[in-house]
Amino acid sequence: MNLIQPHGGELIDLIVKSAEEKKDLLDKAKELLRITIDSATLNDVHCLGIGAFSPLTGFMNQKDYMNVVTRMRLKSNLVWSIPVTLAVTDEQSEQIATGDRIALQTDDQVIHAILTVGDKYKPDKLFEVQQVFKTTDIAHPGVKRVLDRPPVYLGGTIQVLEAPNGAPFEAYFFTPRQTRELFASKGWERIVGFQTRNPVHRAHEFIQKTAMEIVDGLFLNPLVGETKSDDIPADIRMQSYEVLLNNYYPADRSMLGIFPAAMRYAGPREAVYHAMIRKNYGCTHFIVGRDHAGVGNYYGTYEAQEIFSQFTKEELGIELLFFEHSFYCKTCGSMASSKTCPHPSEDRIILSGTKVRQMLSKGILPPPEFSRPEVVRVLIEGLRKKQLGNMV
Ligand code: ADX
Repeated sequence: MNLIQPHGGELIDLIVKSAEEKKDLLDKAKELLRITIDSATLNDVHCLGIGAFSPLTGFMNQKDYMNVVTRMRLKSNLVWSIPVTLAVTDEQSEQIATGDRIALQTDDQVIHAILTVGDKYKPDKLFEVQQVFKTTDIAHPGVKRVLDRPPVYLGGTIQVLEAPNGAPFEAYFFTPRQTRELFASKGWERIVGFQTRNPVHRAHEFIQKTAMEIVDGLFLNPLVGETKSDDIPADIRMQSYEVLLNNYYPADRSMLGIFPAAMRYAGPREAVYHAMIRKNYGCTHFIVGRDHAGVGNYYGTYEAQEIFSQFTKEELGIELLFFEHSFYCKTCGSMASSKTCPHPSEDRIILSGTKVRQMLSKGILPPPEFSRPEVVRVLIEGLRKKQLGNMV
């Protein structure tokens, strides 16, 4: 079977497999400086570890970082649009020299990875966020995250000691190597990847199923890492995807698997990075609809599609499927877009994400033409339980 090449040609695997090697590294780590990482950085460690970020083998050194920030490429010229960096304080940085090894731990003192420091540099963060997010506005969640982090970046390769298992979604956790094997075992040669950080509403279903008409299988690949606080939590979303797939998608032509990354909300640049990562998972096609990975009004509706024209087909290596803003049209009596529907906007059922979240949290059902009732029930119930949980 002809599998698509991973980005850069080689699937990276940074997970330390042998128990002896892990024990040895942990013993040595007792002597090392420890840096506590936040949950979004842990998401990066996991994505690096399993090769979702191939060809990256760790956090970016200054050369790669500057190339990515200024021209959406690694130093090698390979397309890469989002910096993957590790930030430390000035005090920590003073204790670290190039060539050192340091332990990356979480709040609970668990050491997740060892970094061999290859570079240490002070980024111009305002320049970074302007380039990557097209704004320096602190109200943008991606900008805020970058600007809130400490001022020094460490670059270098990592060895991952704690292999990620996708908890609490173990059943849907696959490494890119595993998804590739699964696709092959299903006999799928043309696979469309779908990124989402939202429940799958009728518009998402419409564009997925339109794509499914021309490929062998759908890889529904929701992002379950860090998202902004008003996005619907991943555990509730996962239940809604299960309900939808079990009832409305052919089991032999669709597959659910998590993407354990943090959301950046970088719109166009994030679309390019999302596409490269889905290529690593073995997808041959990738869907980009309206305002992909956008937030607020920072990006134009189709900017995340237009950005791909800056690269050649060969260097992207995955086929993009662009979709217009889709909606239910009451006069057509079906899902449609402005490409297929001649009717005025009053006939179209369009709700913003914010509006839908407000409705759901008040227990109000969005219309069935917007979202399937089975999905809505799961969302309302899940959000209700969380609200109750927050009150006790
Ligand atoms: S994202 O931030 O993860 O991109 P979301 O989960 O809302 O957000 O979208 C998943 C994909 O569906 C993206 O490619 C997005 O552009 C597309 N999409 C979302 N809503 C629509 C819509 N109404 N019409 C067309 N495409 C859409």
